Amino acid sequence: MRPMTASPPNELRSAHGHRSVAHLKDHWYVLCTSSELRTRPLARTLMGTPLVLFRNANGEPGALLDRCPHRNVPLSMGSVEGAELQCGYHGWRFDTAGTCTTVPGLCGDPVDRARNVASHACKEQDGWVWVWGEPDSEPTREPYHPKAAGLKGYTEVRRTVDFEATLHATIENALDVPHTAFLHKGLFRGGREPVEIRAVVTRGADGAQVQYLDEPRPPGLAAKLLSPSGGVVTHYDRFWMPSISEVEYNIGTENHLVTTGICTPVDDFHTRIYAHVAFKLRLPGWLVAPVLQPIVMKIFNQDAWVLREQTAASERWDGEVYTSTELDLMGPQVWRLMRRSQQGRPAEDDDWSKEVRLRV
Ligand code: FES
Ligand SMILES: [Fe+2]
Repeated sequence: MRPMTASPPNELRSAHGHRSVAHLKDHWYVLCTSSELRTRPLARTLMGTPLVLFRNANGEPGALLDRCPHRNVPLSMGSVEGAELQCGYHGWRFDTAGTCTTVPGLCGDPVDRARNVASHACKEQDGWVWVWGEPDSEPTREPYHPKAAGLKGYTEVRRTVDFEATLHATIENALDVPHTAFLHKGLFRGGREPVEIRAVVTRGADGAQVQYLDEPRPPGLAAKLLSPSGGVVTHYDRFWMPSISEVEYNIGTENHLVTTGICTPVDDFHTRIYAHVAFKLRLPGWLVAPVLQPIVMKIFNQDAWVLREQTAASERWDGEVYTSTELDLMGPQVWRLMRRSQQGRPAEDDDWSKEVRLRV
């Protein structure tokens, strides 16, 4: 693991190129799956801040700063006792709101604001535990709901994957088409003469989308599996603030696949993806899923490898000095939206659209 490097939130640019580090706190992030949060507290990190997650006796999740106010011992070393989390050192107890309810041995009222610990709003939805990034504040929106999750006739697959990369680089990679013919050659695209297609890029206040038009089904293994009889691809790549990538394919008339990456910025240079794949195909899901899974994991591993090297090289050369072309459709849009949000600028100038031609 690379050492954690903390950048102050306002340090968005170095002297050479920018560092695509953003601390977007007023948003929901997934910190664990529902099944990971059982009786023991879980240590997690969000934007460089250590948090402890626990599930109380009522089944409710809580997220607190992982630091006991008494003597700084990580609360994740403690235990869940009834509705509260108990520190393992002297037994102070905290509820899900971070209020210190018990100081063992203390005569008199244990409640004192100075003994409380910062807490984050929590919500369990779609099999994940979501945590609001800003402590001690009320969420102003609902967590993202993956497209096609829970829909009748769809097969769903979930995986958790760790990338040594910034949130921006991870999302750009998930939504970048030109690399697929090279890094993932033979698995999805590549291996044929490129064809010219159109792409329409649109950007709004909360996200951006690229719609690809006129693409024949790619020749790679994964695409053959999704639609053995070929057909035209309708393909959308979407970014939703602050950390969601959504790739949607309709291949032919009967095959629909949505791959969602719910990204969590662990720290500036580590991003965890809670990946959700939902598909409805002409071939039965039980037949396709076991064959598709190793291919998808191979693609993830190739992406993890290239992002680790990209991150290391960017650090070595003191920043992300990029040379983009018209083909880099999503990265600049994602960065613009992140930067605008971080700087607290209003969203009026975000509505924008453009059509480009490219060969894939
Ligand atoms: S350090 Fe937690 S109770 Fe003392
Ligand atoms: Fe990739």
